[in-house]
Order: sequence, then C-alpha cells, then structure tokens
Amino acid sequence: MTENSSPAAALASRTLREPELRVPGSPIIQVSDLEKTYQTARGNLTLFQHLDFTVSTGELIAIVGQSGAGKSTLLHILGALDAPSAGTVYCVSTNVANLTPRQAATFRNREIGYVWQFHYLLPEFTAQENVAMPLMAGGMARREALVIAANWLKEVGLEDRRDHRPGELSGGEQQRVALARALVNQPRLLLADEPTGDLDAATANQVFELLEKIHAQFGLTSIVVTHNMELAARCTRVMRLDGGRLVPATETITMSKQI
Ligand SMILES: Nc1ncnc2c1ncn2[C@@H]1O[C@H](COP(=O)(O)OP(=O)(O)OP(=O)(O)O)[C@@H](O)[C@H]1O
Ligand SMILES: [Mg+2]
Repeated sequence: MTENSSPAAALASRTLREPELRVPGSPIIQVSDLEKTYQTARGNLTLFQHLDFTVSTGELIAIVGQSGAGKSTLLHILGALDAPSAGTVYCVSTNVANLTPRQAATFRNREIGYVWQFHYLLPEFTAQENVAMPLMAGGMARREALVIAANWLKEVGLEDRRDHRPGELSGGEQQRVALARALVNQPRLLLADEPTGDLDAATANQVFELLEKIHAQFGLTSIVVTHNMELAARCTRVMRLDGGRLVPATETITMSKQI
C-alpha cells in the first residue's frame, strides 16, 4: 500500500474536493423548528418542539440530559436514522428530513460515523473484517477494504488485534474497533451515543482520549452524548437537553459529576 492510498490521504483528497465542510467555524448542522412526536398507545409523546440549534465545523459537542430527555432520538434524527415530525434538519449539506430510505442509507454510509454504547460488532468476523464492512457495503472490493481497515486499526492502536473476533477483545478494545469502523469511510460528522457508558472509568478515559485525538487529527465535527460530566467538560461545548430545549450546561458541570 502506498502513502497516497492511506485513509489520511483519501481524507485529504476529499478535503480538497469539499473544502467548506472542513473549514473550522462554518456551519455543518442547522436545525430549525424541529419537532419530534411519537404516537404511542397512551397518546402523543412530544420530545421537542421549535428546537433550533447550529453546530459549527470542528466542534466537539457533548449533549447531556436525564434519561428519556431525547438525546438518542436527536442523534438518530441528525444521522437520518429517524425522521422528524416537523422542522428542517440540514446536516452535512443535506436536508435529512427529505431523504428516501435508500438516500438515507447512502448518506449514513458516507457522511456519518456512529459509535454506540454497545459496540454492535459482528461476533463471527474479525476486528479487521468488522472495520472493513462499511467500505464493502459501499461497493469496495474486499481486498482493498481490508487494507484500509488494517490502517484504521493502526490509528486506534490495535494493529496487533486485527485477527481477533469481538469476543476475544476487551471492552475498551471493542469500542476502539467500533470507532475505527465508524471512521473507515472518512465521515465528516461523528455521532457517539454514550460511547464510554459501558466501560470502567480508566478505560472510558482512554477511549475518550482516542476520540479526542481522532476528532482533531481528521478535522471531524463530533457530537457525544454522555452521562459523564467529567468527559463532557473536555468538549468544546456542552449542551443539556432539558424539557425539549438544548441549553448551555455550564452550571450543571459545577453542580454534579453525573446526571
Ligand atoms: N419509537 C418510539 N416510540 C415511542 N416512544 C419512544 C420511541 N423511541 C423513544 N421513545 C421515548 O422517547 C423518550 C426519549 O428516548 P431517548 O432514547 O431519545 O432518550 P435518551 O435521552 O437517549 O435516554 P437515555 O439517557 O436513557 O439513553 C423516551 O421516553 C422513550 O421512551
Ligand atoms: Mg439514549
């Protein structure tokens, strides 16, 4: 493999093609008048109404809030996994509310990296194969996908674990593989839903450090949902989802470590 076919080189070429989307400070997410209402057997459940917010390229945002506040729902809407009930959601130059299921799948594969609390790695495949999956789903040949996946495993410090299956990895290593898989398509936006929620404090810190490093190294915009206020405080902005509003969470940080 040559230097020019490395993930970093591929990312650089995309940056040249679409420079405005990696210029720090330019808007990458613009949400206006967002409403999300679930119809349930017990009536309508409205999570947000008239929700507006903007995210600038390069931000590392933490979203905190009580269980049930709608944090995961908000990430799902941003990442075209769930549709808003009303409002507009521009995310990475795309109106995600207007996508067909096929367009949404392409958008997610190309533009969004997801990391969840549970890694959702496929148990019967190796770490390297798991990381290569999104590339092969996008049509890349297996051999090429595996080479790029190996490079990403190197980025997350797991080059010597690439033949391990998920069950042969520690919890922290599993999340590192999940992070590599999330980034293998060089998305511009990383959405992480309690990525350290299932880890002990020391391992959570290591995984978060890696996320911070990769966020900076690859010019990402990242939104991290967390209940860990110490980790949240390391982000460039902390927002609290409360009663359907996103508000600055600075007061919460000094008052309590966990919410
Ligand atoms: N498909 C659905 N249909 C009906 N209600 C739903 C659906 N999905 C989520 N909800 C409800 O919406 C609310 C918000 O859920 P969500 O998962 O977004 O919360 P959260 O802030 O991520 O909570 P946690 O911190 O526990 O993960 C919850 O009360 C949940 O029960
Ligand atoms: Mg959640």
